[in-house]
Amino acid sequence: MKVTSCKKAHSNESNLSDKNIVFFSTRPYEQVIFSERLKNHNDSDGQSIKACFFEHPLNPSTAISCKGFSDVVVFVNDDVNSATIKVLKDCGVKHIALRCAGYNNVDIAAAAEADIAVSRVPAYSPETVAEHTLALILTLNRKIHKAYNRVREGNFSLDGLMGFTLHGKTVGVIGTGKIGKAVIRILTGFGCKVLCFDPSQDDDVKAMGAQYVPLNTLLEQSVIVTLHCPLNEKSYHIINADSIAKMPKGVMLINTSRGGLVDDTAIIKGLKSKQIGYLGLDVYERESELFFSDHSQEIIQDDIFQRLTTFPNVLITGHQGFFTYEALNEIAGATLKNILSGENTL
Ligand code: NAI
Repeated sequence: MKVTSCKKAHSNESNLSDKNIVFFSTRPYEQVIFSERLKNHNDSDGQSIKACFFEHPLNPSTAISCKGFSDVVVFVNDDVNSATIKVLKDCGVKHIALRCAGYNNVDIAAAAEADIAVSRVPAYSPETVAEHTLALILTLNRKIHKAYNRVREGNFSLDGLMGFTLHGKTVGVIGTGKIGKAVIRILTGFGCKVLCFDPSQDDDVKAMGAQYVPLNTLLEQSVIVTLHCPLNEKSYHIINADSIAKMPKGVMLINTSRGGLVDDTAIIKGLKSKQIGYLGLDVYERESELFFSDHSQEIIQDDIFQRLTTFPNVLITGHQGFFTYEALNEIAGATLKNILSGENTL
């Protein structure tokens, strides 16, 4: 087994047949899982993969630390823009492996130009994110987060805790790929009527009883709208002042996909006017400044984020939709497989 420290990975001991991989934006819980996978691989295969784990993100300024590494493993908030890629190319990097599904943070054209392969983990337990989506819906609806605190303080009053019965309600699902489909499966189990919007329709979704409708119809008829499409030029701020105005008053909006899908300024206006009755977010447009780190001793400078946290009907989690033991193991296995194949898998 040779999972070496960063220092060693930079040393001259490297054999050309070995792989040197560097991970960015890692946290101890991932380092343990990836190290275990690499240990098992190195023990069984004989090929040495050397790994280095950085906690800091990859961006144009930190990319120089990739010198001597063949593969770079990145996460959702690493900034793999054209400037970063230029430095990676100069450092001799051959492969960028995303240990996540979304790849909006990577300039794919620049990577192709630099002849650097890009891979991602397109499917890892979509149920993991779907279940977190339902956790947000149920917690917001039944106000579990408030009830928890009340009961601990000896307050058993039910005032302000009234929810609504999910059974029979119409829920709009935007994006019916792997995660959207898993959400629909759960929602139909709850007895909800599901309307969906996706440029490409899926027969499995129809077989579950969900109905594809134009986006405006979905917005007009759904008491809960949940986002499961990727962030791209077409979907950027798909939830904006116009789309919010089309929704029924008091709608519940859930976003576990990518922060850029919603216009936060319009969301705040919608919350103030009570057009939006509940908001559940696992992602935030400028989350890279905040998420995955402890800022509890600092003054958070993002006034929009801070305003969002002041509403009693807003629940925000810090991009933890993917965060289960099973999903992390699947991510680690698929990322390692991608690294070994070295292929462009987007
Ligand atoms: P997927 O690729 O299986 O499905 C995405 C679906 O969205 C496709 O059916 C596609 O046709 C559709 N779509 C594309 N543009 C659209 C548009 N403008 N309007 C409506 N639908 C559109 O992706 P998957 O695995 O279901 O993931 C969805 C998103 O969830 C990812 O892109 C990622 O951003 C997010 N995600 C969040 C996680 C978290 O921890 N919160 C973890 C994993 C993924």
